Amino acid sequence: MMKGNKGRHHHYWSKKLGLPVVLLFCSFFFLVGFLISGFISQDISHVRPRPRLLKSIEEERERERENNSLSHGNTGESSVSLIPFQVLSWKPRALYFPSFATSEQCESIINMAKVQLKPSTLALRKGETVESTQGVRTSSGMFISASEDKTGILDLIEQKIAKVTMIPRNHGEAFNVLRYEIGQRYQSHYDALDPEEYGPQKSQRVASFLLYLSDVEEGGETVFPFENGEYMDWNYDFKKCIGLKVKPRKGDGLLFYSLFPNGTVDQLSLHGSCPVIKGEKWVATKWIRDRENEFY
Ligand SMILES: *[C@@H]1O[C@H](CO)[C@@H](O)[C@H](O)[C@H]1NC(C)=O
Ligand SMILES: *[C@@H]1O[C@H](CO)[C@@H](O)[C@H](O)[C@H]1NC(C)=O
Repeated sequence: MMKGNKGRHHHYWSKKLGLPVVLLFCSFFFLVGFLISGFISQDISHVRPRPRLLKSIEEERERERENNSLSHGNTGESSVSLIPFQVLSWKPRALYFPSFATSEQCESIINMAKVQLKPSTLALRKGETVESTQGVRTSSGMFISASEDKTGILDLIEQKIAKVTMIPRNHGEAFNVLRYEIGQRYQSHYDALDPEEYGPQKSQRVASFLLYLSDVEEGGETVFPFENGEYMDWNYDFKKCIGLKVKPRKGDGLLFYSLFPNGTVDQLSLHGSCPVIKGEKWVATKWIRDRENEFY
């Protein structure tokens, strides 16, 4: 029965239209389909030729990677920053930031400080006097806070320092801008003051950020004589200036930590400034404390 039905249908169609008409129909639809598909593919390749397509995908990825920012909190930032740095040492923890500030920023800071320089002073141990410590620190300097700088440069730099240390700005002292002339130096010392030597401290310097404002032709390196703790000789002759030496380069930054995470002084953070042999050294120092600045 079924077979018979089908057969009859087939018979009916070919009888009614005839084989040539059916073939014509088929060819017509085939051609239309062919033309449309040709159009579409031509259209796509016109808008995005293959090499361009790949390139734009790469660019998109690059942009995503560059700007790989997540949703952020109220106090966060909307984009990813690139601040290059090099770990100079883990003992003590010291980081180097090439081109932390621009040349123009450095020059502006020097010009601001120049007119207010005074001989640098020292924190004194029990029994020490200004006279007995003469020659330990021979630079000239001045203090200036970011808010006193009307150009806004110190504000920018302070913000950037807070960012790389992740210690809020109000833990920082005012900038200490220093000038070392030929022969001037700072004997090796700690920035954190050991309570055993200096008496109880209301707060401690945790970290120090040095922004070199000038190149120095010769000498003037920041030196860590005990770096890695291999040669910890307390009779060490600072004039020899040996250890890890960091050559000042205009605009570059040096950050090191004087305290361990547990708050005790890192004996390897002993550091000094080698005498300037040729040229002049300018540096802006930011000392960062363990307490907010209203508490010290
Ligand atoms: C990165 O994100 C910031 C903030 O959303 C935006 O202003 C900037 O245009 C983005 N940069 C790129 C290269 O997409
Ligand atoms: C503090 O940390 C340093 C370094 O990890 C460690 O050598 C020292 O013993 C610690 N001091 C105290 C009191 O925990």
